[in-house]
Amino acid sequence: MLGDGEFDKTLLDDGIEVWVTLMGPYLNMNTAFIDRNAGLVAIVDPYDASRWEEGLREEGLKPTHLLYTHTHRDHVAGYSEMCIMFPDLEVWGHEDARVPHLLGHPVFGRVDFTNTWIQPPLEEVNWRAGGINLTVTHTPGHAPGHVTLHGHGVFHAGDLLFTNGMGRVDLPGSDPESQFKSIRRGRQTLEKLPGSWRMIPGHRYDWIDGTTPDWVSVKEALEHNYALNSIDGM
Ligand SMILES: [Fe+2]
Repeated sequence: MLGDGEFDKTLLDDGIEVWVTLMGPYLNMNTAFIDRNAGLVAIVDPYDASRWEEGLREEGLKPTHLLYTHTHRDHVAGYSEMCIMFPDLEVWGHEDARVPHLLGHPVFGRVDFTNTWIQPPLEEVNWRAGGINLTVTHTPGHAPGHVTLHGHGVFHAGDLLFTNGMGRVDLPGSDPESQFKSIRRGRQTLEKLPGSWRMIPGHRYDWIDGTTPDWVSVKEALEHNYALNSIDGM
């Protein structure tokens, strides 16, 4: 199990590095996709800007892109500090995740995206930077404008899915009906991916056997995640 702020680093055959870490009291999982040759570092939902800066600096790297699954406060915790340290960052999220009408609620945090995805719910788009090539799927329900990102051996689920469950749908801006559709869409996506890919949850919660793994394989998630298995026949 990863310690707080500890990085798991994987170098893939395609030259892209994937770093995964856990940060903070809410057990947020962060993933970074790194094209070292091009000097590109795209981090999904960075929780602690200083720890990311330090970890990357040790290897001569710095963040170039922030990619947001949604704008709940814990997921955007590192945003302001990141922007102060790296003012040239590209900051990406779905247009619907700006949620100006919900920013008064403490569960949300404001992010001024420099670029947005605008596809309708359940549709996917390709996102590229250098050799980093991700598929971004719009999966609202837990929060407006929620997206998942997959590529380079990982499916980063945000709060659509945890290893054994799914994100809450009782928060301001949540929509249970949309969540069911998004879960079904997530299942379709996962079924097309290699079973050995890692399913990185937005938070590290308990798995079916009481252990608390950092991630499970796509195959394990499809077999055992209760949300993915409660939508059969819908
Ligand atoms: Fe969330």
